[in-house]
Amino acid sequence: MAEKRILVTGAVGQIGSELTMELRRRFGNDRVVATGRKTKPSKELEESGPFHFIDVSKIETVAKIVKEYDVGTIYHLAAILSAVGENNPVLAWQVNVGGLFNCLEVAREYGCALFTPSSIGAFGPTTPLDHTPQVTIQRPTSMYGVTKVSGELLCDYYHTRFGVDTRGLRYPGIISNVTLPGGGTTDYAVEIYYEAIKHGRYTCFLKEGTRLDMMYMPDAVEGAIQLMEADPGKLRHRNAYNVTAMSFAPEDIAAEIAKHVPGFTMDYDVDPVRQSIADSWPNSMDDSAAREDWGWNPKYDLAAMTEDMLKVLGERHARGEF
Ligand code: SER
Repeated sequence: MAEKRILVTGAVGQIGSELTMELRRRFGNDRVVATGRKTKPSKELEESGPFHFIDVSKIETVAKIVKEYDVGTIYHLAAILSAVGENNPVLAWQVNVGGLFNCLEVAREYGCALFTPSSIGAFGPTTPLDHTPQVTIQRPTSMYGVTKVSGELLCDYYHTRFGVDTRGLRYPGIISNVTLPGGGTTDYAVEIYYEAIKHGRYTCFLKEGTRLDMMYMPDAVEGAIQLMEADPGKLRHRNAYNVTAMSFAPEDIAAEIAKHVPGFTMDYDVDPVRQSIADSWPNSMDDSAAREDWGWNPKYDLAAMTEDMLKVLGERHARGEF
């Protein structure tokens, strides 16, 4: 029997664009079906394997692909981020909860495993914000957070009630150099690198002292694949594991960049919506459960990430890509 295929939703997004290519490298181009809703995929994504447009809020479009390609695992990444979600809570609910619900239903019907990201956004102001435990109070105040907690609960339900192999990670802010994030609270930590290279300066929309968990994309991709490959018997928490790689405030990342970009400066123009979201999120999560249960061990800290980000973006800038 041919090996089951892997479906990625949100494959044109920030995480999806890199996760899809890594899955194709590891498991074969033809085994990984990439899907997006409307953004044109990169040439690399489109030409390296199957690509289709679907809409996760229409269940029949998901079911059709799963059936046609004999999908065994779904990486469901299609989602609205926190700042966009706060501006359009109805859309955030429809995509983040409605889309996940549809993917879970399809996974139940066709016997697929399902990975989906949760977030630091699943916590709120009443959560202990330092060394945030794996199991703790989750009363988020953003619509994004409400959808993420709902998603964690739905995934738990589909696992205990129907035996669907659901797994998830609570990602922190993710920093990457291929595809820009689409409207999150932690996006400043990506923009700052682009602006450092283009203009040698950056205006930050979060205020000094706003500490948040962060992670470089190679670790985020590795974590998702590692979790899906992990021995299910070892997973004490399926939905979802705290994972982090570093925790910093805007002034820390600016100081690190200034070591490589002489004269780099940063000022502040605080966005109250994103500031209040950031203030309600953890300063640093405890990810010891992920380390113990399935060997989570991120490679990049702030210094190593900054070196790599500036190198890669410097090369892209020299090629005129931004
Ligand atoms: N990076 C996400 C956001 O800011 C957090 O999950 O929305």
